[in-house]
Amino acid sequence: MRLKGRRVLIAGTSTGLGYAVAYFSINEGAEVVLNARSEKKLVEIVKSLGDKASYVVGDVSTPQGARDVVSRAGNITDLVITVGGYLEDTVESPSGLDEMLKNHIKTPLYLVNASLEKLHEGSTIVMVSSTRALYTALPNQLSYAIAKSGLTKAVEILASELLNKGIRVVGVAPSFIMGDFVPGRDWRKMRKLGDAGAPPEDFAQVITWLLSNEAQWVNGVVIPVDGGARLKWV
Ligand SMILES: NC(=O)c1ccc[n+]([C@@H]2O[C@H](COP(=O)([O-])OP(=O)(O)OC[C@H]3O[C@@H](n4cnc5c(N)ncnc54)[C@H](OP(=O)(O)O)[C@@H]3O)[C@@H](O)[C@H]2O)c1
Repeated sequence: MRLKGRRVLIAGTSTGLGYAVAYFSINEGAEVVLNARSEKKLVEIVKSLGDKASYVVGDVSTPQGARDVVSRAGNITDLVITVGGYLEDTVESPSGLDEMLKNHIKTPLYLVNASLEKLHEGSTIVMVSSTRALYTALPNQLSYAIAKSGLTKAVEILASELLNKGIRVVGVAPSFIMGDFVPGRDWRKMRKLGDAGAPPEDFAQVITWLLSNEAQWVNGVVIPVDGGARLKWV
């Protein structure tokens, strides 16, 4: 029960990673508050998770939207930001720049700003970057990769700024998250080391550990979680 007494806001909950983080956090004794814009999805996820889970519907992509969701979430001890969105573009047609900077830089910063008055010494903030931001420079991922790179730097900057409050800021950089989370299955059978993709469970377990006190000395870094797939890309 590594997260007993914790209440984690998971902003931008999908049926994949966000759902899996919620499941493993509850298994470790936490309560979770899930956020997304689609209420139907959240109702179904919360129903499957039981009474340790609740939800707040809302768009967190503006300062007011983030403040509103954090306020309605009640007391929280930790924040996990899994807000997503992916598109491909190039410098010849950088059509995704505004959306990617909004989703992967502005939105996480609005959420951290809105949460600061609730977080305290011992709290953890977890961001989700991407191996695309760290290791590869594909010609069709201009806005996505640049935005995720900015988020990776934000982890360091925020961790530095929040040192004196005793709040850790950490991140993971997944490779490819395959499909939806399914509680209770043997997901390890679904991948082998070196595969580019893995089920949400593999990434969610690392996030859950990062929230725990076992990871207290990990701060201001983004950990690649890719089963070593990046070693095949260079
Ligand atoms: N999938 C991958 O292979 C992969 C690889 C590397 C990194 N990542 C990163 O890992 C994280 C989770 O990935 P994922 O595939 O689970 O993400 P996702 O489905 O693309 O996004 C997560 C959820 O964020 C919610 N969301 C988006 N904008 C929002 C907003 N303004 N306010 C509130 N909720 C919002 C969406 O739900 P609603 O539409 O209901 O709001 C969505 O289901 C993301 O940060 C993603 O960029 C993913």
